[in-house]
Amino acid sequence: MVSISPKERKKYLIGNWKSNKTKSQVSAFFQEFAQKFKSIGNKKPEGLELIVCPVFIHLEESYKQIIDLKLPILLGAQDISPFEMGAFTGEVTGSQLKEYVSFCIIGHSERRKYFAEDDALLVKKAALAKREGIEVIYCVPDSLTSIPKDVKIVAYEPVFAIGTGTPDTPDNAQKVIKEIKSKNNISLVLYGGSINKDNISKYFEKEDIDGVLVGTSSLDPDSFMQMMLNAAL
Ligand code: PGA
Repeated sequence: MVSISPKERKKYLIGNWKSNKTKSQVSAFFQEFAQKFKSIGNKKPEGLELIVCPVFIHLEESYKQIIDLKLPILLGAQDISPFEMGAFTGEVTGSQLKEYVSFCIIGHSERRKYFAEDDALLVKKAALAKREGIEVIYCVPDSLTSIPKDVKIVAYEPVFAIGTGTPDTPDNAQKVIKEIKSKNNISLVLYGGSINKDNISKYFEKEDIDGVLVGTSSLDPDSFMQMMLNAAL
């Protein structure tokens, strides 16, 4: 594994909005975030990447808002088609997504559970994202689940911690993430599951945790801003 000096090391705060927010709520999020961001001097912690992942149909609105308001936020998708463009009703392809996003979540436990997505399908999705130059954020519930080759960012998201208010402990998250890194030769692994503004710094303090993937607490601009400020680097 290539070692990265702490100064060069990037960390990630990623908001996964799931199936939340109408278009006007999306605009309101960015407007409110921009106001608060201005009040702190338009500065984000050095080395911290801010990413939000809205539903497909709000990617364009999010993109416009981020440009208009000059926000240092990148966009991610929550899913991607396992096919190229063509006769696949309802699917959104990598070539369409890349017009807006730099990242794509693949294999979130909700997709595995409610949409029966299995490893074979996820390998295809990861390959298509890579082909379009979209960075994959690949979710796994433990250190045993296989990870497609070429994935550079993984999120360890234990199912018991997602949306429950009961996160994994920072110590255990650190332990599992270290295992994931050594088993898969991956250098960027995030933690996800019940992160909020009050507990985020405990995870950022850990040696191997490169950031967080956040659902519920990323929906509110104030809470997103507080997480950004509390993510001690
Ligand atoms: P949560 O969701 O922060 O609401 O627990 C995390 C996730 O599903 O990525």
